[in-house]
Amino acid sequence: MFYFPSLIPSTFIYMIKKYQVLFILILFLTACNTSVKTDQEQEEKPEEKPAYYTETYRPQYHFSPEKSWMNDPNGLVFNKGTYHLFYQYYPDSLAWGPMHWGHAASKDLVSWEHKPVALKPDSLGYIFSGSAVVDKNNTSGFGTTENPPMIAMFTYHDAKAADAGKTDYQSQAIAYSIDNGDTWTKYKGNPVVPNNDQGIDFRDPKIFWHEGSQKWILVLVAGDHAQIYNSDDLKKWDYLSEFGKKMGAHGGVWECPDLFPLKIDGNGEEKWVLLISINPGGPNGGSATQYFVGDFDGKTFTTAQKDIKWIDYGPDDYAGITYNNLPNDRRIFIGWMSNWFYGQKIPTSTWRSAMTLPRKLELHKTDDYFLSNYPIKNFTEKLNYLKLNVKNTEHFEDVGLNQSAIKFTQPSPLTDFRIAFSNTAKDSLFVDYNAEKKEFYIDRSKSGKTDFEPSFTSNKLVAKAQLKQGENVQFSIFLDQSSIEIFIDDGATTMTVRFFPNAPYTLFDFSGNAKPENLKIAHVPGIWSDNINTNKKQTQNQ
Ligand code: FRU
Repeated sequence: MFYFPSLIPSTFIYMIKKYQVLFILILFLTACNTSVKTDQEQEEKPEEKPAYYTETYRPQYHFSPEKSWMNDPNGLVFNKGTYHLFYQYYPDSLAWGPMHWGHAASKDLVSWEHKPVALKPDSLGYIFSGSAVVDKNNTSGFGTTENPPMIAMFTYHDAKAADAGKTDYQSQAIAYSIDNGDTWTKYKGNPVVPNNDQGIDFRDPKIFWHEGSQKWILVLVAGDHAQIYNSDDLKKWDYLSEFGKKMGAHGGVWECPDLFPLKIDGNGEEKWVLLISINPGGPNGGSATQYFVGDFDGKTFTTAQKDIKWIDYGPDDYAGITYNNLPNDRRIFIGWMSNWFYGQKIPTSTWRSAMTLPRKLELHKTDDYFLSNYPIKNFTEKLNYLKLNVKNTEHFEDVGLNQSAIKFTQPSPLTDFRIAFSNTAKDSLFVDYNAEKKEFYIDRSKSGKTDFEPSFTSNKLVAKAQLKQGENVQFSIFLDQSSIEIFIDDGATTMTVRFFPNAPYTLFDFSGNAKPENLKIAHVPGIWSDNINTNKKQTQNQ
């Protein structure tokens, strides 16, 4: 019945013969079992994919990549009705690595569609931060005037040269797209701005069209200062000037510059604003973005500014830049909602980090110029606020505090007060105001998980109050699972802070001399998927 090779001992053959029925049964059952398992495995396979955007701490109305590591926003540009968001991305890890440009697109800057990776590292290096323009007159020759190309300028970071101890490993390069950002071709003549002994931190090009001089302008950073170049075709660049060796904050290396004009209160005198991110050396430790208000004549940026000014006093708004090519002189800014001190250690699972809400920048003048930043109308106008009785804290739970927008006013001048946000795990996040010092504080030392990196709680988070001097001070607060963004007087003072609670925050209350008026709260709908939105309760429009 069975053929057995002669090597098999005869006793074993005897046993098999004796129990052959049993043996066949075992073989049959094993086969059945295997096939049943295979079916089960096949059925189970789709469930193995992580349920992205449902994870603990995952922001529900802020941009974050589906998976893996992200840092700076790059190449913010509006083209053919689409807002593009490129970003520093390492698809193979939860920590920083060989940089790519990830890509997402949006019709309203509120909800986002993930696109394939736009730029990958190559033999010239990793793809570091940069910007993008629409070359309307096809000055580069990469497209046509009927179909103008998008041009991205980025920094090549040659990691091998860096490891070999060289110092000229960063240079600027371009790539173009003629299908509205879906695919990109790197220019054969790269790099377009070689290092030429500019040192180890020569990067983060911001390019834009300058009407006054009818030229392309490039601003980049070189360690402790910014450099300005111009060009007719985005390929050949001429050096013009430098700015900043002895200006502003220098606690760390200068990174991610931006330069743009703004009119005071939207219609008055025009000034130019230079953004410079620095790391470390921020007002509350680690990374932060300072700005200068001055003049730009097409060649040189000058300012009489003496004070150091920060766009956001929170520790979690870094490397922010603004959109190119927006209609109606709008200036919209997005920052990376993290900090190099601890960004690679934050306790998230499948992805790391998020972007700030897109914010409109506006310039104002009291005794000095100051920049405000506030979430864009596309986002705020859709919120359905519910008016709340201040004592009635139990209502707050119903409207999903951990995914909410809160608004109130307090009479001016402000007196000392505290707002405490908390949860059932007894975690609390405190927002305080000290009237004597005219300072706001955020204390996240008891806000949840904090021990992943000592620097996360080593600083008291302080913001100098910049207020608009009206009858009331306006407060707007946006909470999204693991972040809080506070805008005081329409963003005259701003603080962005990450925190990682042991349970969702469900309660908040006021103490001290708080006199909140017109308190309103809105549940903010999730942008990723309707069915992962846990809080279905509709709030009433007021
Ligand atoms: C800022 C930065 C940039 C650099 C990029 C690298 O966060 O350090 O200067 O281009 O990140 O990912």
